[in-house]
Amino acid sequence: MFFGQKIHPLNFDVPETLTLTGDAVELSGPGVRLQIRCADIADGCLRLRFEHAASADLRQHSDAVLPEWRAGQPIAPRREADAVRFDAATGAACLSARQLRLEVAGFNLETVAAGIGACGDALLLNFALCGVDGCYGFGERTRRLNKLGDSADMLTVDVVAVFRHTYARDDYDPTYVAIPFAILKTGERFLGLFFDNPGRAVLDAGKSQPGEFWYQSFGGVTDLYLLAGPTLPEVVRRYAALTGRAPLPPLWALGYHQCRWSYRSATEFRQLVAQFAAADLPVSALWYDIDYMDGFRLFTWSRQAFPDPAALNRELQAAGIRAVAIIDPGVKREPGYAVYDSGRARRAFCQTASGREYVGRVWPGDAVFPDFTLEDARAWWVGELTDFLRQSAVDGVWLDMNDPATGYSRAEDMRFAHGAIPHDRYHNQYAHFMACASRAACDEIDPEGRPFLLTRSACAGTQRYSAVWTGDNASNWKHLRMALPCSLNLGLSGVAFNGPDVGGFMDDVSVELLVRWHQAGCLFPFFRNHASRHSRQQEPWQFGPEALAAIRGAIRTRYRLLPYLYQCFFAHWLTGDPLIRPLLYHYAGPEYVDLDDQYLVGDALLVAPILHGEGLGPDIIRRGVKMQERSILLPPGAWFDMNRGHWLDGGCAVHYAAALDELPLFVRDGAVVPYYAGPLRNSCMDLSAVELHLFCREQAARFDYCLDDRATRRYECGDYGVAGITAEIDGDRLRVEIAESGDYPRETVRFTPVVYGRPELRKLALTVNGRTENRRLHAGQREWLCREWTPLVPDHPMAY
Ligand code: GLC
Repeated sequence: MFFGQKIHPLNFDVPETLTLTGDAVELSGPGVRLQIRCADIADGCLRLRFEHAASADLRQHSDAVLPEWRAGQPIAPRREADAVRFDAATGAACLSARQLRLEVAGFNLETVAAGIGACGDALLLNFALCGVDGCYGFGERTRRLNKLGDSADMLTVDVVAVFRHTYARDDYDPTYVAIPFAILKTGERFLGLFFDNPGRAVLDAGKSQPGEFWYQSFGGVTDLYLLAGPTLPEVVRRYAALTGRAPLPPLWALGYHQCRWSYRSATEFRQLVAQFAAADLPVSALWYDIDYMDGFRLFTWSRQAFPDPAALNRELQAAGIRAVAIIDPGVKREPGYAVYDSGRARRAFCQTASGREYVGRVWPGDAVFPDFTLEDARAWWVGELTDFLRQSAVDGVWLDMNDPATGYSRAEDMRFAHGAIPHDRYHNQYAHFMACASRAACDEIDPEGRPFLLTRSACAGTQRYSAVWTGDNASNWKHLRMALPCSLNLGLSGVAFNGPDVGGFMDDVSVELLVRWHQAGCLFPFFRNHASRHSRQQEPWQFGPEALAAIRGAIRTRYRLLPYLYQCFFAHWLTGDPLIRPLLYHYAGPEYVDLDDQYLVGDALLVAPILHGEGLGPDIIRRGVKMQERSILLPPGAWFDMNRGHWLDGGCAVHYAAALDELPLFVRDGAVVPYYAGPLRNSCMDLSAVELHLFCREQAARFDYCLDDRATRRYECGDYGVAGITAEIDGDRLRVEIAESGDYPRETVRFTPVVYGRPELRKLALTVNGRTENRRLHAGQREWLCREWTPLVPDHPMAY
């Protein structure tokens, strides 16, 4: 089957009769025998299970849903004339031989007539898109945020390998990630549909047949989870609860990362450290791409280029820089190479149907692939990876080529469980189980610590183990533009910790594109500059002082806002809210349905990057400075413009012109933004003193600041506190109250208010855990983007 091909609805057999057998409903007719069961999973979550009764394998092979939600509470079907109903507190499903009707939290959805069927092992569910005006999610995709009129092939692929001539376009499909999750919108009501089937499937939201939503899985069991709204955050949170939320990353992982395929020697790494220092740029991690290895042999180092990797990595650590190494699944098939020999002895590699070791062709040439679905193979991997990480003092793990890429060798011949399980059952989950095993290795090394893993391929649930980057993009404006909806939809699909290769991976970046990419991406959850070996160098200093200054502004802004980003990660872990959000996450109205060239970070910051340049969009010259223009939609309320240092009234679209060193960035009235004002020394950051930037023109502000050790996993057992922060305008005085609660020592963080308000504000009353101090406010300098601003700061430090 080609990419983009579908199963024509007329090729489906549709059932004619409905019978009840215990807690299952059977729909049958010539060529079709479907069994459908319903279970109450959790508040706001209902599951319909679809099985082909004739199938030999009725197991659910997906690992997407957390184990605690897998059983559910069976719901007995109730006969109603020629139909049956499954009723639960969350909603109801009503099934006749030819139709399925769903009512969940006020959202009604039904299949078209003859909209349930089968074609051999394939399953078709064909819903009417009545009144649906938006569709979101779909995981990592090209094109736009709103998927209405679009379709997605849920198959993980090595994009550049399969779209060799078209990877630079912005419409390829499939991608590296397969998450069959759709969020439908009708007016201001949302409903989540998670089609849990790890095999290949198609979601088509009215592309092939306008007005119809098609789900087509090609085999296996499908669990359709219905996730109630009515709001978008409720749907997203329920999906995140079901499939797992990203654990808190180490703070260093939130900084700026520098990568290239490949920095080739220890000398080059030392040079990079010096270059970052000379450029006055913080950097939190440097990355080893494949050339660190000896002939691309996994878990080895080229000793000529890297004579003592552990010493080098410790040297980097001493400079506040962490090291991340690429780990591919392909093990060089070379008798005598210890990793191959030990894996072979453990029968850890995937096999063909007849029991041969499956061989693909990747970087090391002929290669075999660990079968991560086997517990014993995972244990072998944990041992090998643990030794490697320990011996080379590497801090983070970069999982690549796990789509899985097999080169010219057909992937279908790679089977699992010693050849017993066909490839498609686990194809989309290959990276997931690799990430699971790799995280286990990190846990082995430091059971208390927080590992950092990044993966290229992923499926539903992989966010529990690893962050995701969006693969081999290209250095062009279309890919910069596309990066926003792609990361936003990934975030809505549970993968909060994600980001693109900043600057673009394939092809040559231009100076303007590199600057704009840094600005657009500097507040993405993951922020890494990476380029291919065939592309020109694109480190921040490669294009002269003007570009460097602009990029420095973006990178420093990220470091200043790291406490805020960290809090967004904490909020994600607690609630499932993504870090970056489309405006429709918080604002209702038709103007937000398709809006995807600007985004929110948490609920306080609005970023509207410049996504064009070089004559590709409107530009103007103002006072001799070239600026790019764009329209920005500011939701109702007042917004503080961090470039110009003044308030703008929202509820309208504004035309904005930004010079090369300007990123249009706004903060909403009523926001608290934790800000790091200390020295910028790579990943070294003492967050025991944090400024609270309070944006209070008309609105009172409130924020829950989570307090924890930022290093261990004790927060998972409840060892964290919350500083509840409120700020209220009272004439010429701002009353700020900080009240700590929870299971964490008090006052481990010293907060200093910094105020952006009306000119008449002169005084500050700060109450910390019941003790009040009064201060006068005066203008003080702070750095935001490339500018220095003078918000109001207390006249002398608070005494607590
Ligand atoms: C793949 C990765 C890319 C990496 C390259 C070499 O293309 O996606 O990030 O640099 O392989 O390892």
